[in-house]
Amino acid sequence: MSGPENTSDPQSAAALEPETIAAYVDAALAAIAAASSTAELKQVRLDHAGDRSPLALANREIGTLPSAARKDAGARTGKARGAVNQAIAARQSELVALELEAALRDERVDMTMPVELAPQGALHPITALIDDMCDVFVAMGWEVAEGPELEAEWYNFDALNIGPDHPSRALQDTLWIDPPEHGKLLRTQTSPVQIRALLERDLPLYIVSPGKVFRADEYDATHLPVFHQLEGLVVDEGISMADLRGTLDHFARAMFGDVRTRMRPHHFPFTEPSAEVDLECFVCHGASVGNPDVQCRTCRKEGWIEWGGCGVVNPRVLQACGIDASVYSGFAFGMGVDRTVMFRNNAPDLRDFVEGDIRFSRSLLGGAR
Ligand code: DAH
Repeated sequence: MSGPENTSDPQSAAALEPETIAAYVDAALAAIAAASSTAELKQVRLDHAGDRSPLALANREIGTLPSAARKDAGARTGKARGAVNQAIAARQSELVALELEAALRDERVDMTMPVELAPQGALHPITALIDDMCDVFVAMGWEVAEGPELEAEWYNFDALNIGPDHPSRALQDTLWIDPPEHGKLLRTQTSPVQIRALLERDLPLYIVSPGKVFRADEYDATHLPVFHQLEGLVVDEGISMADLRGTLDHFARAMFGDVRTRMRPHHFPFTEPSAEVDLECFVCHGASVGNPDVQCRTCRKEGWIEWGGCGVVNPRVLQACGIDASVYSGFAFGMGVDRTVMFRNNAPDLRDFVEGDIRFSRSLLGGAR
């Protein structure tokens, strides 16, 4: 293949000799035929039909010929250049067609090939239970409220009537954020959301608040340093312990079927009176109590399962939020969500909930979600 470099400017009309022109054309046609891609053909076009190609340079020499010879020479180079350009155009459309065919072949997608579906995740059993629990209350017209996990000491303790020297502060194994004197902590309970709701929302107030809580607890089958609670709070006119009782009974039945609840006197600084609430064992309904022939893994032959704390809102909490406690009263409760999943789904080891094995989550959800 000849190129511009080795086809130096013809210095004489020798470049216009018929044999020379024919040789240029032959070289061009050979190069065109040899081009195997449009990119190669582009270079061939530059070499053999461009401004510096032998034929173009020969064309320039026409002016140096005696006028009688110019016509012939002009016709010869014109024909030669026309032939080369035509050959290039023909090869160009051949190559474009070949390249299109190759692209269609190489980039073909077989729509009938089986696809590997990405496995779908499962809702975490705790998330699923929180959704179910909230649904019970939303159906009664309550609202779902949320609060921050990184909380101020005042909301988590002081406003809930847990003063700096209150013994229950020590009981809660608080995880403080450095520096401790800034009074920031990881909330030890969902109860601070009561305060946020009382300060931010209008009365009457009917809320539930699910979420994570944190305590410097052991990590074992029945304790996690991060666990979940569901808080409930009602503040309205004329609310009493009877309303609390009815609400908890309804909640228990919605979650566990035909079961009763019972209250045992207890103390919480933010409720007065306060109680712990137990759930009748929904597996043996008490039949295992004192009966050597009946075993029950769910209540361990107690007949009752500890569920959470509750009580009538302490007027001091209402006062801390600027509410007239002579007009309004309320009740509150707090349940352990993880505990609820544990006994509802017969999952004896809490660690399974955080170790992330999707087979465990699936088995609890029964493949339903
Ligand atoms: N916050 C309490 C705890 O973590 C649970 C609790 C008890 C919440 C009584 C309440 C309540 O709202 O009234 O132990």
